[in-house]
Amino acid sequence: MADNIISAKKLNKIYTSGKMSAQVLFNIDLEVERGSFTALIGPSGSGKSTLLNCLALLDPPTSGSIVIDGKEQTGMDVNSLSKYRNDNIGFVFQFHYLLPEFSAIENVLIPFNIRSGKAPAKTVKDAERLMARIGILGERNKSPGEMSGGQQQRVSIARALINKPGLIFADEPTGNLDTETGGAVLSLMKEINAENNTTLVMVTHDRDIALKADRVVELVNGKICRSINLKSLGQEEAEKVLENRSCYP
Ligand SMILES: Nc1ncnc2c1ncn2[C@@H]1O[C@H](COP(=O)(O)OP(=O)(O)O)[C@@H](O)[C@H]1O
Ligand SMILES: [Mg+2]
Repeated sequence: MADNIISAKKLNKIYTSGKMSAQVLFNIDLEVERGSFTALIGPSGSGKSTLLNCLALLDPPTSGSIVIDGKEQTGMDVNSLSKYRNDNIGFVFQFHYLLPEFSAIENVLIPFNIRSGKAPAKTVKDAERLMARIGILGERNKSPGEMSGGQQQRVSIARALINKPGLIFADEPTGNLDTETGGAVLSLMKEINAENNTTLVMVTHDRDIALKADRVVELVNGKICRSINLKSLGQEEAEKVLENRSCYP
């Protein structure tokens, strides 16, 4: 039987503001295998970020069930939820949300601080190793304002990894980077995914990135229109399958 780290069932999301309401996700069923790299693609406005935020426990679905690591996550109280998130889940966003008053390494250590307080020397070493590996150790003591966009994004990746989460969610993590830096960030995330059996779920509108995933899930108008197992296809065939727009209205 497949070992699914995420099992979401019948997810619906309705945004309401005053008298207006809009349904953005419709009865989404999605299972994600532990250790896999899933790319979530689809047109702008199709609900990718909304779905990712639900799965990452950042924003509750209006209805439906999300089981992560065998545990039902919907209906958990806010404090337990934020603790669970901080300890088990890493996030990388298109905009990095680093704290401007803190240095690079202080930003990296924030999820550790939230979990366990002041970082001991060993954890600081871990943070430095992580930063060295992604090429930002030289920026250790700089504030976000003193770094380039690519460096800031790499700090946010190190921050997502410091607690060694089993699950990483990324929303267009290379969206604001030039092609070369974006490629480096993607390779790094793929390496991490392969190394510790870390599960990676990434929203992207970039087909070249999607082609590097094990599986592509495509959303159109808030519904999953198809899920493609790329591992079973060759590169050429995968490209052809992704070009196919048959599930677009
Ligand atoms: N907080 C919100 N309140 C109301 N509508 C929202 C909110 N967030 C997203 N939406 C709407 O939901 C739809 C899907 O958005 P989103 O999930 O961001 O799509 P994607 O990431 O695929 O571009 C869009 O029509 C968007 O305007
Ligand atoms: Mg989005």
